Amino acid sequence: MNREDIEQIKAQIEALKCKTAKEVEEARVQILGKKGQVTRLFEEFRTIDKDMKREFGKTLNELKQTATAKIEELKAALGEENSAGVSGQDLSMPGDPLPLGSRHPVSIVREQIVEIFRKFGYDVAEGPEIEDDYHVFEALNFPANHPARDMQDTFFVSAGHINPLLLRTHTSSVQVRTMERSSLPIRVVCPGRVFRNEAISARAHCIFHQIEGLYIDENVTFADLKQALLLFAREMFGPDTQIRMRPSYFPFTEPSTEVDVSCNICHGQGCNVCKGTGWLEILGAGMVDPNVLEASGIDSKKYSGFAFGMGLERIAMLKWQVNDLRHYFENDLRFLSEFSAAPEV
Ligand code: DAH
Repeated sequence: MNREDIEQIKAQIEALKCKTAKEVEEARVQILGKKGQVTRLFEEFRTIDKDMKREFGKTLNELKQTATAKIEELKAALGEENSAGVSGQDLSMPGDPLPLGSRHPVSIVREQIVEIFRKFGYDVAEGPEIEDDYHVFEALNFPANHPARDMQDTFFVSAGHINPLLLRTHTSSVQVRTMERSSLPIRVVCPGRVFRNEAISARAHCIFHQIEGLYIDENVTFADLKQALLLFAREMFGPDTQIRMRPSYFPFTEPSTEVDVSCNICHGQGCNVCKGTGWLEILGAGMVDPNVLEASGIDSKKYSGFAFGMGLERIAMLKWQVNDLRHYFENDLRFLSEFSAAPEV
């Protein structure tokens, strides 16, 4: 081992230039690798006598530091040359795509319906999902033990009270809250989530959404209801849509009706969506029962009104021919991404 050799190796290292990452790696192996020049000098160092060790120890350590620093410097310089920026990244590369979420079909339908009724002059009203028996049943003319209560399988939150808490089974409860707090006339739609104790299947779910409508003023007649629903159906399903009213029963309306729209798939010819009938059932409606008006302190001799209620999942099913209710709640991206952000009418 002699000083001149070491100085020479050091000078070579300092003068080193590399154009590619491969060249840097080769230089590193040649100098600092297992059989590299510097490594070999350290091996030799182990065999020399004490005096020489004292002489060369420091020099060798400095040589190793110089070599390591040089290799790092060469690597860093290459990184800068290959990239547009100092971070070693090519800033001209296209970015990773960030997929945009889309509106849930139930939200799209809800917004469309609310927007249509907003144009007709309706406000939006909301109410609590955990409700009491009074607002869901009693004030809507379902007396205690009335069989119509069995139409709606209720989840009770607290049982055994006179007015137990429960998960609302329909948004008709918001009618009552609106009548209690608003001055007349009233024109509202009430979108919201509702709950029923149903076994989950393609056709039923324990959670779903409804929109309730309520119009109360002097001299409101069944003809007004019919006209409002016809205009709504044409805005929602297309200008050629027809409606059909079938007599029905709800405790809170008298008379009551179920309303169908002409099938917008086959235009009344009959197809598998309308099961060959040419009609699709979309909502329940009727004239607000005088008992319901009186229960919320509205003079039924002076005022009359109509109400209607529809299921959002059902409307979305008809609109996009979704054949299984469970899709709405599973949040499978393959399903959710089918619906564009901009609602098409
Ligand atoms: N609340 C009814 C239901 O959940 C729907 C309904 C029917 C609402 C008739 C109304 C109505 O306002 O008039 O099945």
